[in-house]
Amino acid sequence: MRGFLITFEGLEGSGKSTQVNLLYRYLLSVGYDVIQTQEPGGTKIGAKIRKILLSRSNACMSSMTELLLFASERAQHVYEVIKPALASSKVVICDRFIDSSIAYQGYGRGQDLEMIQTLNRITTNNIIPDLTIVIDIEPNKGLLRTGKGDRIEHEDYAFYQAIRTGYLKIAEKEPNRVKVVEGDKGMEGLHQVIRGYVDEALRGRFPGKSGR
Ligand code: TYD
Repeated sequence: MRGFLITFEGLEGSGKSTQVNLLYRYLLSVGYDVIQTQEPGGTKIGAKIRKILLSRSNACMSSMTELLLFASERAQHVYEVIKPALASSKVVICDRFIDSSIAYQGYGRGQDLEMIQTLNRITTNNIIPDLTIVIDIEPNKGLLRTGKGDRIEHEDYAFYQAIRTGYLKIAEKEPNRVKVVEGDKGMEGLHQVIRGYVDEALRGRFPGKSGR
């Protein structure tokens, strides 16, 4: 039996990582065999690629190089972490995945969407998330919360507006897989909403188990 892949998407500062942690602890507590991982950086090689991608000293990076580095990182991550975990029926929670490339490199940088979709299919071996949670937030709010100032975060407001629009378009096209939740609901309120979607989706895959 195959496992279950849940991905989280959204702008920087949307509260994604907090929600990933809360969901991970919840699923552990109700007895799921669950792992938590992230892109970029879910493997040793990926962590090195992440450094190249985010370093401010690489300001000259072309958007094609950026796209292919994220793709390489993803190929390694799928090969080393996601595919084996799904093959052993685990629930995998991944902080960013294929939709980040569509939203950031496609809608944000203007790279061809079909090309990115093809790359996504190649790098993931056709793995598509079973459920994707997009945490929607107004760009200013999110960016004010992070202040990390890495290479990508150094972009302007219009870039983040385009990414946000991209995420909403992805959700519009794939309403069964992609659920948009409001990022300004508060940590606990948001967790409850996400839990609702996850419980429902997991019931379909693991009928013997039920949430709290
Ligand atoms: P990170 O510090 O992990 O940000 P966050 O905590 O918001 O996830 O940095 C990841 C950055 O990489 C973020 O700006 C989004 C970007 N990114 C892409 O542009 N394309 C991708 O395919 C992925 C996975 C991430």
